[in-house]
Amino acid sequence: MLALWTVLLLFSAVQSQGCWNPRDVHIGNNCYTFVDKIHTYSNARAYCHSVHASLAGVQSAIDANFLAANAGSQFGVTNGDFWIGLSRAGSEASFKWDDGTSVTFTNWGPGYPNSQNYVAESIANGRWKTLAGAAELPLVCSYDPKEVITTGSPMKTTKVTKTSVVPTKQASTTRGTRLQSGSTNQSPSFTTSQPVSNSCPQGFKFSKLTKKCYIVVMYGDDDSYPDVPTNAPPLTREQQRCTKVGATLATIHSQEENEFVRTLFPENVSYCTAGLRNINSSSSEGDWEWIDGTKMDYSNFSPSFPKPNDSIVQIGHGFWVTYTRTTPLEGVICMK
Ligand SMILES: *[C@@H]1O[C@H](CO)[C@@H](O)[C@H](O)[C@H]1NC(C)=O
Ligand SMILES: *[C@@H]1O[C@H](CO)[C@@H](O)[C@H](O)[C@H]1NC(C)=O
Ligand SMILES: *[C@@H]1O[C@H](CO)[C@@H](O)[C@H](O)[C@H]1NC(C)=O
Repeated sequence: MLALWTVLLLFSAVQSQGCWNPRDVHIGNNCYTFVDKIHTYSNARAYCHSVHASLAGVQSAIDANFLAANAGSQFGVTNGDFWIGLSRAGSEASFKWDDGTSVTFTNWGPGYPNSQNYVAESIANGRWKTLAGAAELPLVCSYDPKEVITTGSPMKTTKVTKTSVVPTKQASTTRGTRLQSGSTNQSPSFTTSQPVSNSCPQGFKFSKLTKKCYIVVMYGDDDSYPDVPTNAPPLTREQQRCTKVGATLATIHSQEENEFVRTLFPENVSYCTAGLRNINSSSSEGDWEWIDGTKMDYSNFSPSFPKPNDSIVQIGHGFWVTYTRTTPLEGVICMK
């Protein structure tokens, strides 16, 4: 079984063409985005909608097996479950897909569905089970890369077509550009000592909004940094990475800054860490503060977040999430 999946995986890995993000995987009619952050069912669905996708639709046993194999490899685990887009309003109601397609195929494991209403797929065998919606699992979103979609951004609703805009990333770029060009009349507090665009060091991108230069540094497995004691404050290691490029971790104080920052993400990176950290995990939602001491006066958290026991904040193409640390395939956002 494993050998078969390895073959399937190799085969599917070359099929991400046409998807909005190179890490998405094209299986059957859909592209799939793997989100390795745990959410309740309704928040998982809200997350997918925030990136203009649906909670994953699965139309055949081949799709289900591809999905489980890819989830295992992207989440780095061999078992566990992830949310897919099948649910019902109550144990007497019929199951419906989040993307509106009719239910023609199911892949229930033995004993399912039981009395619960929210469907998760097993990474170990691709089979489905029903769970309580309050369970917190990673998730997979799906979208048809050929379709005209209606974006469901929390901030605005716009019709876009695949050829003109689709990736949240590109949409953000468009908005970011518009914002930059319209921002000349603001920020009277910035003085002429702030950098101008052509004074950003190579690789940095200038924001007219904040008059600062930004770069995303990939986290990697690089160990050429001073040791960080286990009791060091959150973001110590991330800040070392920014220091290495002569910058500090980025702060975000408005929706416009948030959208600008997303335009810096390398194409194949889904989450980047910004300079927001939890300075008191004993308080009920955590006590979140920017590393430069400024107040959290803007945020864009996913509904399950922030989590009090997490330490750092990660900016995604959709909502923000919190986590314990930055993982190797993620970046840190630096500014100077
Ligand atoms: C952390 O939060 C808890 C609960 O709100 C509070 O009792 C405690 O004093 C806080 N600690 C610090 C260092 O602020
Ligand atoms: C957070 O950590 C505390 C202490 O370690 C623990 O009692 C609590 O259950 C944790 N909360 C969550 C939501 O994991
Ligand atoms: C992303 O792309 C860059 C450049 O193409 C490559 O070096 C890097 O390994 C890729 N990272 C991931 C996580 O795929």
